[in-house]
Amino acid sequence: MTELLELDAVSLHYGSLRAVDQVSLKIGPGERHALIGPNGAGKSSLLGLIAGTLPCTSGRVLVGGEDLTSMPEHARARRGVTKTFQHSSVFLGLTVLDNIELAVQRLQGVSHRALRSLDRFDSVWKSARESLDAVHLAHRANDLASELSHGERRQLEVALALALKPRLLLLDEPAAGMSSAESAALVRLVKSLPRTVTVLLIEHDLDMVFDLAEKISVLHAGKLIASGDAAEIRGSQVVQDAYLGGANVEALFEEDDG
Ligand SMILES: Nc1ncnc2c1ncn2[C@@H]1O[C@H](COP(=O)(O)OP(=O)(O)OP(=O)(O)O)[C@@H](O)[C@H]1O
Ligand SMILES: [Mg+2]
Repeated sequence: MTELLELDAVSLHYGSLRAVDQVSLKIGPGERHALIGPNGAGKSSLLGLIAGTLPCTSGRVLVGGEDLTSMPEHARARRGVTKTFQHSSVFLGLTVLDNIELAVQRLQGVSHRALRSLDRFDSVWKSARESLDAVHLAHRANDLASELSHGERRQLEVALALALKPRLLLLDEPAAGMSSAESAALVRLVKSLPRTVTVLLIEHDLDMVFDLAEKISVLHAGKLIASGDAAEIRGSQVVQDAYLGGANVEALFEEDDG
């Protein structure tokens, strides 16, 4: 079976700092996979290497067997690899719907002129509407993004990624700053995605991780130190030793929301 995502010894160096250090990982089609680890472990950097917002220092990124390593972000987006950002990437002066159309234009390479052609416009508009529906923001479509609550803005970021019809959806702490009701809605949304969408999620809240993810990978100082199901990660000696000198692994992440 072809893996949906295969990382082959990918690294990202900032001078002498190895933000990502020789990470190899395979994620199967339709999998819900979480990436955990303390602040500064390299989680966001690794997502950047997959999405193409950061260049690999070495190693290879394959999606559906195709080597995307040297492709820019928009070329990967066209192949179904899309990422939400940890920090807000929303244009506050535009409406919710315009934000989505802009993201689709930018990453799918639909030019302004092409967008005016009716077919193209219809398909962009339709996927924008569908993704707003999916995150329960349809009633806000014509409001300015600046009028959204923090949690709604995070939902919009997920909608931006969904509008691109991802095969691989990369979520970087999507629930950060959300209320518990908003986080619960986000969990339901991710659970409701069709299995044609593979999900790789960075999340500090281990309850959410264990609820959503079938597989969990742990990064520590740029290195992948463990990968497995919830029971394997909870019981992993290497995870416990690396962070905690043998204490309970969950204790670390509870105070790590920062
Ligand atoms: N542009 C940069 N230049 C130099 N170092 C960087 C740069 N971006 C990130 N780093 C460093 O790379 C390491 C990994 O950072 P990264 O943001 O990937 O961690 P993270 O696991 O996402 O952390 P957090 O949980 O806080 O989001 C950190 O030591 C960080 O300081
Ligand atoms: Mg991060």
